[in-house]
Amino acid sequence: MSIRPLPLHDVDLRGRDVLKEADFSRDELQYLIDLAAQLKAHKRQRTEEQLLRGRNIALIFEKSSTRTRCAFEVGAYDQGAHVTYLDPSSSQLGHKESAADTARVLCRMYDGIQFRGSAQATIETLAEFSSVPVYNGLTDDWHPTQMLADFLTMTQHLQRPADDISYAYFGDARSNMGNSLLVMGAIMGSDVRIAAPKELWPSGEVQELARNRAATSGAQITLTDDPALAVAGVDFIHTDVWVSMGEPVDIWDERISLLRPYQVNADVISSTGNPATKLMHCLPSFHDMNTVVGQQIAARTGMVDGLEVTDSLFESDVNICWEQAENRLHTVKAVMVATLAD
Ligand code: CP
Ligand code: NVA
Repeated sequence: MSIRPLPLHDVDLRGRDVLKEADFSRDELQYLIDLAAQLKAHKRQRTEEQLLRGRNIALIFEKSSTRTRCAFEVGAYDQGAHVTYLDPSSSQLGHKESAADTARVLCRMYDGIQFRGSAQATIETLAEFSSVPVYNGLTDDWHPTQMLADFLTMTQHLQRPADDISYAYFGDARSNMGNSLLVMGAIMGSDVRIAAPKELWPSGEVQELARNRAATSGAQITLTDDPALAVAGVDFIHTDVWVSMGEPVDIWDERISLLRPYQVNADVISSTGNPATKLMHCLPSFHDMNTVVGQQIAARTGMVDGLEVTDSLFESDVNICWEQAENRLHTVKAVMVATLAD
């Protein structure tokens, strides 16, 4: 397999950190998405070439994860690299050792460092003090590897480029997924609509960043608190949990009452007027009562058919979240290959 150079691209990301979408040009992000598509095809055909043999990658998780951790681990193994998983209880980070000191140690042992945690400032510090690439596996502000998967999913599903795709995001729009879907779409030239109560819109700074990037890419940006205004004709509706990791239980009631009108259900999908509209969700999702938290929410709210999305819609063919989840692997692998391969 010949991975570099890809046709149509003159991009070299070797040694780069992946901290947030806005650090990248449209061509660089497209390169990662195209590389992921190529790696996905080679894995399916069992023709994948290992370009990361002998590399070691540290995976620091302050918060829990299924997809991101597995994507980094399987992606690394597929490419011949090794990983070390570090959780808060098995590392000194944050308790006895600063991010700066941790970075200065790990970069002498590892070729790359993945970090998932709360503060964007922590990963920015890790990157400042690390001589090897640092990857953001989610912070409170951004989820860049998820964005690569979401754009691979949308462009492959429709077989159309990102600047010919429209999507709406329903939910808590000042959290990682809302910020990232707004800014990534702005960079890539998409038609992006945010549907959320005004209290939960992205900050003025994030909105300004999105509008600046949209001015270059030709993206259309809409922020509205009226779900009906957001959905006309859209190709995809994205949603996310209404309360993110690290948020206290005592905000549940206020958050749910704010977001109840933004639940994605069959009526929302049909109100797009586009019979091909698909549902996307980064997961995990509170769509049923088969989890401890799902049961607690149902008992508290009486919402027994799901929270951010109804169970019936989640379980329907409208939902393409499994393809989206698989694409976490191919895109995370692309990030590691692009930044670490010779
Ligand atoms: N979507 C996502 O980041 O999933 P995990 O929290 O399981 O990693
Ligand atoms: N907003 C969610 C995303 C999970 C992938 C959270 O931060 O918990």
